[in-house]
Formats: sequence, C-alpha cells, structure tokens
Amino acid sequence: MADREFEFSVNKLILGDNLEILRSLDGESVDLIYLDPPFFSNRNYEVIWGDKGEVRSFEDRWAGGVSHYIEWLKERVVEMHRVLKPTGSIFLHCDWHANAYIRVFILDAVFGGNNFLNEIVWKRTSTHNDSKQGAKHFGRVTDSIFFYAKNIKQFQFYPQFERYTSDYVAASYHRADPDGRRFKASDLSAAKPGGDTRYEWKGMAPPAGRYWAYSKEHMEEFERQGRIFYSSKGRPYLKHYLDAMPGSSVDNLWNNCVYRNKGERIGYPTQKPEALLERIIKCASGEGDVVLDPFVGGGTTIAVADKLNRRWIGIDQSPMAVKVTEFRLQKQTDLFTAPYTVQLYKYDYDTLRYKDAFQFESWIVRQFGGTPNAKQRGDLGLDGRTGDNTPIQVKRSDNIGRNVIDNFLSAVQRHDKNLFEKNIAVKKPAGYIIAFSFGKGAIEEVSRLHTIDKIIIKLVKVEDIVPIAVKPSISVRIRELSQDGKGMRRIECIASGESPAGIEFYSWDFNYQPEKKKFKAQVLLDKEGKQIISLKPGMRHIAVKVVDNDGLENMEVVKLTVNGEVKSG
Ligand SMILES: C[S@@+](CC[C@H](N)C(=O)[O-])C[C@H]1O[C@@H](n2cnc3c(N)ncnc32)[C@H](O)[C@@H]1O
Repeated sequence: MADREFEFSVNKLILGDNLEILRSLDGESVDLIYLDPPFFSNRNYEVIWGDKGEVRSFEDRWAGGVSHYIEWLKERVVEMHRVLKPTGSIFLHCDWHANAYIRVFILDAVFGGNNFLNEIVWKRTSTHNDSKQGAKHFGRVTDSIFFYAKNIKQFQFYPQFERYTSDYVAASYHRADPDGRRFKASDLSAAKPGGDTRYEWKGMAPPAGRYWAYSKEHMEEFERQGRIFYSSKGRPYLKHYLDAMPGSSVDNLWNNCVYRNKGERIGYPTQKPEALLERIIKCASGEGDVVLDPFVGGGTTIAVADKLNRRWIGIDQSPMAVKVTEFRLQKQTDLFTAPYTVQLYKYDYDTLRYKDAFQFESWIVRQFGGTPNAKQRGDLGLDGRTGDNTPIQVKRSDNIGRNVIDNFLSAVQRHDKNLFEKNIAVKKPAGYIIAFSFGKGAIEEVSRLHTIDKIIIKLVKVEDIVPIAVKPSISVRIRELSQDGKGMRRIECIASGESPAGIEFYSWDFNYQPEKKKFKAQVLLDKEGKQIISLKPGMRHIAVKVVDNDGLENMEVVKLTVNGEVKSG
C-alpha cells in the first residue's frame, strides 16, 4: 500500500521546510489546515527530534526574538491562506508564549479579524502545575487553538457534541419507560400561538395565557409514539430519550480531549491526542476533503485524517518526524487504506530499482520535469515527453546496451517524424533515455549518432535527477536474560545500524508476519536500538527497522524460537 515515492496520490508525507513545499502546492486546493508549530518557548522544549534540519530551523526562527518568530510563522501562514479553498478553515495551535502576537499580527492580518471564529482553550493532558515549584503565577495548563475561516460566508462547520456528564444525566434524565429507556420531560406549552395550538388535550387546556407548543395532529403523533409523559396531575410533557440525544454541544473550552490509551503515545513531548484532532477534523471537513498539516511531528493529524477517510498532506523538516508518521500509518492501515507517498530528500537504490515499473517510470519522468504517459501499453516504449514534446524513455535497469538505443531511435521516428527532423535541424536532442547506468555499447552508439548522423540522444542517469543514497545497514543480536515463574522468557534485543548519514532511530515489530509483509511497530521510536521484552515460549519473527538522517530505512527480520514449555489453550 505505501507506494512510497511513485504513485501521484494526494496523500503524501513530504520531508522539507514547509515554506518551500507550501509554495509548491496549488492555490485553493486544501479544505482544512491544522498547524502546531514550535511555540517560541525554548530550545529544550522546541527541539524535539534533535536532527540537523530541526536544529537549523530552530536557529533561524529564534534569531531575533518574538518579532522574528512572528515573521517566520507569518510567511508560512500567508502561503496557507493561498492554498486554502474559499470554503476552508484553519486551526493554529499555540500557547501563552506567543498567542496574542499570533492572533493580531498573523491571523487577523492574513485572514482578517472578521473571519475569526473561536479561540479554543484546550486543557493539555499533561498539566504541569509549575506554581508548585515556587512560581508566582497560576499553573499554565491550557493552550490556545485559533479557528479562522478563509471566508466566513462560505466555510463548512459541523457542530460537535460530547457525552453528557453523569451528573447532568442523573439530574435531567431521571425518568425512564418500563423498558428502562431514560428520558427527560419537557414542557409542551408555549408562550406564543402557532397555528392550531389552542385546543383541549385529553380534556386539558394549555396553562393560562399559554398555548400548546405543537398542533393537535403532532400531539396525536407523539401519543402514538408513546412520547408523551403525564404528570401526576395529568399534565402532558414531551419525552426526550437520552439515547436519541447527540450529547451536549461542544463550546470553546475543551478539557477532555485526551489520549485514549497508553499505546497512542509515541513518546515525544509535543505529541497531541487523537481525540483533539478528531474533533477539529470532524467539525470543519467531510469525507474525501483534503487536510493539511505543515508541522506534522509524530503524525497525529495524518493518522486521524486517514482514519476519517480524509485525503491528506503532511510536511515536516525532520526525517524522524516523517518516518515515525509513516510507521504510525503502517500500523493502522489495511487493504482499504488509500495509497500514499513519502517524499524524502534522498532515495535508496534498492527501493527505486525494485519498484513497480510503471509507477517508477511516471515518477522519474515527473522528477525530470516531464509529463509521463498516462497509459503503460501501446506507447512504442516511450514513457513520457518533455515540455516541448521531445520523447522520454525510462529503463529501470543498469548497463543499458546498444540495442536499446536502436529501438529508441526507431520508436522516436515512428512517434513523430516531423518533430524528430525538426529537433535534428535545430541541433536539439531527439530524445532522452533515463536509466540507472549505461553500458559502453550504448554510450559509443550515441556519440556515433551525434558525430555521423547529427542525431542527439541524451542519456540521463537516475542519480542525476534524484539524489541516490545507500540505505543504512542493520544487524540484530538477541540474547536470553532470564525466565520468570510463568514460563515467560526475558529477551534482550539489540539492533545496530550504520549509515554515512548517521542513524536517527529504530522501530520494532515483535509480532512480524513475514507472509503478510506488514510492519506494524509496537515500539515506534527507539533512539538506542535496545529492547527488553518478555516472550512466551514458541516460534515468532521479530522485525526491526533502522532509519538514518536522510530518512532512508532498512529492515532486519529475526526468526526466534523461545524454548521452554508451551502452555496449550
Ligand atoms: C510541535 S511539533 C508538532 C506535533 C504534532 N502536532 C503531533 O501531534 O505529533 C512541531 C513540528 O514542526 C516541525 N517543524 C519545525 N519547523 C519546521 C519547518 N520550517 N518546516 C517543517 N516542519 C517544521 C518540527 O520538526 C516538529 O516535528
């Protein structure tokens, strides 16, 4: 499913500085943006992954105090405003460090104060009440999330509801039908008349100076449905069943968007709970809409958007952030998950070399700045064309031989003879062949064609188009530590990776299913490459991935038989 670099699907994770990448996105192409940028708090807090890109970004935004930070963030928000559809909206997550500046100098300035909708006050899950440490102020336990529309007349909004508190239920829904269905009884009279609302109901007139709230016809329908409750004095009331109520409508104070379970935590400081992003994505987008997170971090927005069948774009300048997000997606994906691509700075040879041919052809033609052929067959072996329609052929192999040049030459002529002759006449390339490497025969034939026949055929190596790097190597050592009384074995797993770019982190799947080839990490982020686990006796596969500073990965699978007695059942 994760056609990493090739399939041109909307769903993509992109490594890089978000300003540059935002500028490459089409205008008015996104429905919802959630951003959680570094908070202008301090280095210890802001530098999460510690990799080069992040530290550089930290340096450049801190260079000149809050006004520099605001300028740094504003130029990015200006691009976000451009890529948002007129029906779109934005949620900017920040805290007390800079929220006032952000609202006035960025959001009001770029989106217009009239498009302000809410300052959502979110009570963080990890509330550290720093007043205990002698601070002379109240604990700062909330963040601000500013909610703006691109255009207040057009944006989409779906009210959200949350479960009633048990106190509210006990106070309001204390009545129940014989089958136990709880309900609250509401007044069936109204101050103002409305059509046929002055009549006797079961011999009872509406209270003095009031009218029935519904027509007789409606009342009879409620009666048929058993939705009228009669007080001891026989006064009718309308039943509202608890199980039919949406819950209480959410206001701007969010104090229960928390982690659902321990497993949701990836283990880095500024990760946000999925419940928070669920509410944001549900209130301002629909299925199929495009959700953008330009500071993706550990991938919470993307993980939730994917679960809610939104299309998505995630950007981060930290290879670790992009890879952790990719592994997080792999954990929750199944057959029906939409394909996505991961765009890194560098690519490893194997991943390119052994990829689906057609996807590789389309992708490399695009990276070359050309337009790939939409169809794979019946194209004379030509895979795309340049801006001026000069044919491009892609060979996903090494050591291309002379025969390829011969076939290409006849294909180019058959494809468009006029263009072929025109290119020769103006001494322009008649065509381009892209491959991993070219053999002597091919190189000699191309130079002969140029010297003798004045036909220019350009041979282009893949590494001249995209940076190729060698993926990291990895080795794993496993040793048994001890056995507990219940036959469980404590096992130590040590992985060590090597890469010229340096190692970022390791991820572990202790239940790897080789036949399924699905890596579903139980430990997503391990900086050390060491794990101690308790395993039942039996055979299993353990897979460990290593990721280097370029975001390139490699995987090692170990088949392990844990000795000892297997308790049946
Ligand atoms: C606070 S974290 C986001 C956490 C995320 N909301 C989550 O729940 O996992 C901010 C992220 O912004 C990234 N970042 C900082 N400056 C960036 C830039 N100029 N371009 C892209 N990403 C950047 C950092 O690498 C970090 O991963």
